[in-house]
Amino acid sequence: MRIAVCPGSFDPVTLGHVDIIRRAAELFDKVIVVVMPNFSKSPLFSREERMDMIRRVTADIPNVEIDTFDGLLADYTREKNAVAVVKGLRAMSDFEYEFQMALTNRHLNSDLETVFLTTKAEHMYISSSLVKQVAALDGDVSSLIPAAILPEVVKKIREEVAR
Ligand code: PNS
Repeated sequence: MRIAVCPGSFDPVTLGHVDIIRRAAELFDKVIVVVMPNFSKSPLFSREERMDMIRRVTADIPNVEIDTFDGLLADYTREKNAVAVVKGLRAMSDFEYEFQMALTNRHLNSDLETVFLTTKAEHMYISSSLVKQVAALDGDVSSLIPAAILPEVVKKIREEVAR
């Protein structure tokens, strides 16, 4: 069985993430979406909220599992016998950081491949950070966030701004 891991902070999961997870699930036998800490960001949604939202928006994809892990991605993939890490690549701005992470992960686990899927053009500009900013300022994020989680995402972001 060829297992791939889709790691991220998913704060919150966007339509761009769901597209990458769905396409990875076509390429691999099993895809594990793993919620991990990103030391340069402090999340708005709790880990449980993030996992629950991912679970709901990927419920129709049979070969997807949701997990969370606090250690190194390179150790996690080894533990799960995963053959690849799958990431979505948007414009040039993602490249340097993603390239650096891919090489670091390869340094830590020489068997590990990182596979980049090019984002769909309509998702090119979506990021969780921008979603939070737009929703906080009462902008429309309905084309950026899966419909099933949209009300709770907007509510939490607005509550946070009001505090
Ligand atoms: O969605 P993000 O915030 O861009 O995801 C980044 C993430 C969580 C994948 C990255 O920070 C990560 O891999 N964290 C786990 C800890 C780790 O292995 N760090 C070294 C990777 S270079």
